[in-house]
Amino acid sequence: MTHSAPFRIAINGYGRIGRCFLRALVEADMADHLQVVAINEPADFRGIVYLTRFDSTHGRFPGKVEAGDGRLLIDGREIAVTHASTPEEVDWRAEGVDLVVECSGQYGSRPELMRFIDAGCSRVLVSHPANSAEDVDATIVYGCNEDVLGGGERIVSNASCTTNAVVPVLDVLLREVGIEQVLLTTLHAAMNDQPLIDGYHHADLRRTRSAMQSIIPVSTGLARGVERLLPALGGRVQAKAIRVPTHNVSAIDLVVELSREVTVAEVNALLRAAAEGPQAGRIEYSEEPHASIDFNHDGHSAIVDGSQTRVMGGRMVNLLVWFDNEWGFANRMVDVARHWLQRTR
Ligand SMILES: NC(=O)c1ccc[n+]([C@@H]2O[C@H](COP(=O)([O-])OP(=O)(O)OC[C@H]3O[C@@H](n4cnc5c(N)ncnc54)[C@H](OP(=O)(O)O)[C@@H]3O)[C@@H](O)[C@H]2O)c1
Repeated sequence: MTHSAPFRIAINGYGRIGRCFLRALVEADMADHLQVVAINEPADFRGIVYLTRFDSTHGRFPGKVEAGDGRLLIDGREIAVTHASTPEEVDWRAEGVDLVVECSGQYGSRPELMRFIDAGCSRVLVSHPANSAEDVDATIVYGCNEDVLGGGERIVSNASCTTNAVVPVLDVLLREVGIEQVLLTTLHAAMNDQPLIDGYHHADLRRTRSAMQSIIPVSTGLARGVERLLPALGGRVQAKAIRVPTHNVSAIDLVVELSREVTVAEVNALLRAAAEGPQAGRIEYSEEPHASIDFNHDGHSAIVDGSQTRVMGGRMVNLLVWFDNEWGFANRMVDVARHWLQRTR
């Protein structure tokens, strides 16, 4: 751990990902180095304190959570809390914010994201893919392309949780074997953009349906998101996203047409070697008889379930990749924030 002055971080949108980001910093013992000094979240203060302390998915907060005069105290460290619904209403300069992690999901275009910069934030790290590659200075999947960050960027996207899971795996296959085409289906846990029972909740009609009653295909920009990270696959990726009635942890059913023939043993050996070598901490490899709940609170971006690898006709490979869509992603946001900010000094 470095002993230089801490970086000052704000969280905008303190929902599933915003809260996981703060908690990931604490669990990684980085809260002194990347110091969260401000949270902006429309919810009331009482609710913010309560949902920091208690989390149905990840358990009780692993530290002391106190409330003091409109400020949240985490292990004694003070966080200013505001309840604005626009970036302009928050005095980011007063808190000397080096980076805002934008976790509300409300800002997808460059003009929208620039509102944070214009309001006094030096940098914005966004918890979803921007509308287009040009809307941000870079889209990062940590472990694959963080080296493109030079420190001078203003707006960076952390891509999506599914992109963080699938891109490192595809990257291994692309480098080691070669890829012709990719077809993937993500089986994604329910999210807060779905209602518990049917309700007018979203422009995507299927997202108006009860999250707990159905398996629900939803609209997704996943294919273009993967191609954004792996331009060599441009025009050769297709994807579907299906929400399933679980509270956390998702899976990718990944079909890849490779450039040459392989065996199950060879593909698994390649992914196991990546997990034990260059992608340690991001890719994990397992052949245990898993169910999704086994990966709740797992910080990896992707867990390759080698027991489910299939090869057809030599070149058609089918993989099962698990990921904790909240915790894995939030940990990669911490990685990108740390890496990016260190480049600025
Ligand atoms: N959950 C995942 O697994 C996951 C994984 C990777 C990426 N993401 C992405 O991360 C983003 C957030 O997802 P989430 O699951 O954390 O959603 P969430 O639980 O609904 O959290 C979003 C939070 O932002 C607040 N908010 C809404 N408008 C705001 C505004 N204008 N300014 C400040 N805060 C505002 C919401 O408050 P109200 O509820 O009061 O509106 C809510 O507390 C989305 O873009 C999502 O795609 C999510």
